[in-house]
This record gives sequence, structure tokens and C-alpha cells, in this order.
Amino acid sequence: MTLNVEQIRKDFPILERETQNGARIIYLDSTATSQKPAQVIEAMNDYYRRSNANIHRGVHTLAEEATSMYEGAREKIAKFINASSSREIIYTRNTTESINLVAYSWARANLKAGDLVVLTEMEHHSNLVPWHMLEAERGIELDFIPVTEDGLLDLETYKSLLDRRPKLVSFTHMSNVLGTVNPAAEIIRLAHEAGAIVLVDGAQSVPHLTVDVQALDADFYAFSAHKMCGPTGIGALYGKSSLLEAMPPFLGGGDMIKEVKLRSFRANTLPHKFEAGTPAIAEAVGFGAAVDYLSAIGMERIAEHEREITEYALDRLEEIPGVRLFGPSAEKKGGVAAFTLEGVHPHDVAQILDRDGIAVRAGHHCAQPLHEKFGIPATSRASFYLYNTKDEVDMLVNGIYKVKEMFG
Ligand code: ALA
Repeated sequence: MTLNVEQIRKDFPILERETQNGARIIYLDSTATSQKPAQVIEAMNDYYRRSNANIHRGVHTLAEEATSMYEGAREKIAKFINASSSREIIYTRNTTESINLVAYSWARANLKAGDLVVLTEMEHHSNLVPWHMLEAERGIELDFIPVTEDGLLDLETYKSLLDRRPKLVSFTHMSNVLGTVNPAAEIIRLAHEAGAIVLVDGAQSVPHLTVDVQALDADFYAFSAHKMCGPTGIGALYGKSSLLEAMPPFLGGGDMIKEVKLRSFRANTLPHKFEAGTPAIAEAVGFGAAVDYLSAIGMERIAEHEREITEYALDRLEEIPGVRLFGPSAEKKGGVAAFTLEGVHPHDVAQILDRDGIAVRAGHHCAQPLHEKFGIPATSRASFYLYNTKDEVDMLVNGIYKVKEMFG
């Protein structure tokens, strides 16, 4: 059954607002952050109005309620990505912190000078810089799966990189610029055959696709709530419990300990071992509500809707003289359309579209090396989610024609 988008749009209060000059907001920037349905906003509001207390620390009614809401959300998240246990879900601030957790804890305990880490040329900065830092500190080596002209990973070169027996392969499941949905299961299988551990950056995939970490056999999987209808300030790291158990803690402080002496400590059990200090409790509640919201609609239906919109958008954008699109064809990508318009800087494109309330992102989208690869400093990027319509794509296309007129 197709999505009832008009009904879904009613859940998102922000989609009703207008800009200062009276234009209706056309939100085409969900790859940067998604909008939030009332169900998520209300869940967080309710938590603060009715149940606010610190977790794992009190026996009073509110503390128990807050703890059960925080842990209940973890259960929902585990189920959403089919983790075998909620102990394997570590709350973090976002995908970036999840990747950093692996880089600081697992990698610093397991990698030494000369060890190879394989990344890809389509990573965004969060899955590059932590490894650059480790390269500088430890002398690990980095190499990259190349991106082909049509925006796919070159798997033949990947296989030859695996002959060098990397210790870690870390890649994005879905590119935030090209939209490419990478063949994650195959990449992981090949990495495992070569003896590598695999970290997947799922910032763009968990919000848009059905992700099953057990079917993928991912060792680590990182994602953020704010791109999947949840709040900012919270994300998750999935890790196989055998790996998480063996890893040293990341941050030290309250909640991640079992016992502290003046000169020593014993770390807590999973998942608390990696959650130091008072966490983002209301945000966890919102994260759980976002998972409920998406699950009730159904990820298959959301993905199907996005496929339809993306196909339509790519067809329409392609018609515009001077537009160059990046990334593969619609069936190999998620709802992202990054493009350049001949003779106009992407920032000007975005600014002029904004006058009509059309929100797109312009710049390097935190993926500078990928833009360098394509020989361009920046792109404009429209991205789509469950609340976007073909009408909005038409308005984007009309807006781009307007930009062309203005620039002669
Ligand atoms: N990675 C996010 C984006 O693509 C920030 O906009």
C-alpha cells in the first residue's frame, strides 16, 4: 500500500509554516536533518512534564519511570535494526560520536603502526577524520575504495585492497551526497573473509531503509536519531556484544562504573560501560518515539515512496539544461539529488530557492574529498523523506528555472 503523504504531512507541524515573505516551506534537506512529527515532540514534552528524573540512580517513582522510559527506548531501537539484544545498543550523541567511540576504544586497543584501515572515497568527514587522527597518532595506514564516475564503489579494487589484510573496513551504507546505497552485505562478507572487522556508517541508511544488523553481519553500525524523525543530541552505536565486552571504556565518569576506589575503578556491564554521566534522557524517549513512528508506517513503504519521488526528481532535474546530477540512477540510490547548475554557484542556487521557501543544502556536505574527486568545490543537494511530494519536486524544478533566468 502506498503512503498517504497528505496524512503524514499533518504529523509535522513545521511543514505548515511559511517563510517571512509568505512562502510555504518546501523542506528538501532531510539528509542534513529530518523534521520531527508531533508524536516525537509530544513524547519528549510529556517526559519533561510528567516523568523527569535522573536514571539508574533513584528508587523513587519518577526515577524508576525515567529509567524505564530510557531503557524501553533502547529496546525499541534494538528491535528496529534487529540487534540480538539491547545490550548491543550504546547511546551516543550522534553517528560522529559512535564512530569516534570505535576509533578511541576498539581501534586504539587493537591497531598498531602499519595496520591497514580501508575506507571509501565517498565517506563524509565523520568517517575520515577519526582515522586521520589515528594515522597521525599511531601510524596506522589508510587506503580507500575508489568511487566510479557513476557514483558506485569499485569493488574490484576493494578486493585487491583486501589482499593486504586490513584490520578494519569502515564504509557508509548510503552516501549523503551521491545517494548510493552500497552493497553492504557483500562488502562485509568479503571483509570478514579477509579477517577484518567492519564498521558501517548508517547515518543515512537507518532512516530510509530496512536495516538488519544480524543479516548484514555488521560488527559495528553507527546512526543518529535526528535524521530519522527523532531529536538532535542522541545517536547509537550497535556493536556485537563479544566486541563491546572486550573493549575498554570510552569516556569515564558516573554510570559507566560498577565500583570506584580512590585509585581504581571497575567498569559497568554492557551497555552502561560506554555511557558516562547523565545521558540525554528526554532525547532517548524521543528516539524511541521516532522508531515507533517509523515502524508504524513501515520502512518498506517509506523506502518505496522515496524511490518513487527520487525517480521522478531525477527525471525532472535531468531535463533542465545546464544541470549536472551526481550519483547513480534512481534504483541504486536513496532520496538524494546532488547537482550543479552551469554558471551558477551552488550557494546562489540555494539562496534563490530559499526566497520561494525551498530548503536545499549547498556546499560540500561534509564530504570534501568526494567533491574533489568529481573536480567540483560544491553541489546543491535536494533530499527527500516520507513527507515529500511530487508537487514539491515540481516547485524545485520551477525554482531552478527561475535561477537560470536570473543568471541569464
Ligand atoms: N552529513 C549531513 C549532511 O549530509 C550533515 O548534511
